[in-house]
Amino acid sequence: MSNNKYIFITTPIYYVNAKPHIGHAYTTVVCDVYARFCHMMGYNVKFSTGTDEHGKKVEQSAKKNNRTPQQFADEVSALFKNLLPILNITNDDFIRTTEFRHKKTVEHFWKKLYDAGYIYLGEYKGWYDIQNEAYFTEKELVDGKSPLGGNVVYMEEPCYFFKLSAFGDRLLAYYEEHPDFIFPASRRNEMISFIRQGLTDLAISRTTFSWGIPVPNDPKHVVYVWLDALTNYLTVNGYPTNENQNEDPYWQNVIHFVGKEIVRFHAIYWVAFLMAVGINPPQKIVSHGWWLSEGQKMSKSLGNVQNPYDYCAEFGSDALRYYLLRELTFGSDGNFSRESFINRYNSILANSYGNLCNRVLSFIQKYCNGTIERPVEITDEDEKFYQAIDANINVCPDLIHKFSFNKYLEKMENAITLSNQYIDFQKPWTFKTSDKNRMNTILYVCLENIYKIAIMLSPVIPSTAEKLMKILKLKPTFTFDGNNRLPNTVELNELEILFPKH
Ligand code: MSP
Repeated sequence: MSNNKYIFITTPIYYVNAKPHIGHAYTTVVCDVYARFCHMMGYNVKFSTGTDEHGKKVEQSAKKNNRTPQQFADEVSALFKNLLPILNITNDDFIRTTEFRHKKTVEHFWKKLYDAGYIYLGEYKGWYDIQNEAYFTEKELVDGKSPLGGNVVYMEEPCYFFKLSAFGDRLLAYYEEHPDFIFPASRRNEMISFIRQGLTDLAISRTTFSWGIPVPNDPKHVVYVWLDALTNYLTVNGYPTNENQNEDPYWQNVIHFVGKEIVRFHAIYWVAFLMAVGINPPQKIVSHGWWLSEGQKMSKSLGNVQNPYDYCAEFGSDALRYYLLRELTFGSDGNFSRESFINRYNSILANSYGNLCNRVLSFIQKYCNGTIERPVEITDEDEKFYQAIDANINVCPDLIHKFSFNKYLEKMENAITLSNQYIDFQKPWTFKTSDKNRMNTILYVCLENIYKIAIMLSPVIPSTAEKLMKILKLKPTFTFDGNNRLPNTVELNELEILFPKH
């Protein structure tokens, strides 16, 4: 592409100690929708995801499963990777932290931090949350557990520290200069108050286990899993071969999507690491809330873990993608339930959108021999209908840029309802013999709006949008310029049911 709009979109990399569930699928789908939207708006997009494979937790899970950590990581990483085509994800890279390219990046990054004078050897004493791979002070514990909810053990170990305490003011200044750096604002405020309480230096190496990247020149230590994991974003962007990241077009516009519980690692630690070596911080940290399942936190013991494979197999990936974006207000927590999934599927996708497409297309097939022409003249009502659809569509880019995915889909639902109303009101079937011209006009006008709606919905329901383009004999490439038009003559291919009822 020959324009100068670039964006680098990342999912967090997933721990390989658990199989992928709906929560993981959500982060990935949100990124994919955003990436597809950016493509449609003419950006050069780099979109990465992957797996976070080192650390004590993985070492322990491997042991429990009678595997070496590498075997175990290979198996679970493959589950995450295999889920991507099932969810119809358009990632450009899948990074594993056990890859050689990543090890090289981490080693180089560590040396840079060290040479810049921000790493020193000390002794760590504190409470370690294995589940979340983080240390806490006694003061930070909540009812004997870590503030992230994990069980803690007291540990003492020699370790390398990163001088995080030197970055408080610089971080606050960065947030001040970039008021939209952290989304939503409530998380930004949390970060600010966390920093204001005073940052302590961060333990960035471990000696109590070995499943990690050895510290350069001191291999008794392995690199702290979060430093290792965060560096994946640089590995994906070609560092250190491409050492001058500040000149790299994708690095000018990096957007990290993360769950709310890992904002701190990205907005504070990651930014400070980058500042320490003189690499520009990302443009945005965008955080989402958590999915509960049938009202409760998903857990194996409760047996309420929602599995993305099953929903894709039963309803198709578009249906799952639509539900994930429509049901939850981005940034807040929400509840995943099979019942509300089926309700939304039937009422919106099958009965409203699917039915709209089906009735217009089958009418054209049956009564116009499958071919329809752009009308020479349209009525004021037709014109008003176009305007009403455009009014809904044209606000969507802004809503997506603001991560208001459910509002964007509400607008699209308005447009679909308006289209069904237009047909009900214009009654093309009454002109079958009396005024074929008018019948053609109504159908063309409606089809053109269906086409526009499909383009604006394509980031969320890409397979359906492609199916529709195939029916219309158009290329399945989506660009949006606010004025998408159908060709003057549209000849239909064979029809397909877009969303069968459940
Ligand atoms: N490995 C770290 C991230 C390192 S990024 C440099 C990690 N992994 S994770 O597998 O625990 O979580 C990955 C993502 O999945 C997070 O964004 C997290 O919020 C998301 N989800 C996991 N369970 C979730 C829900 N129940 N609901 C929504 N998303 C949640 O953290």
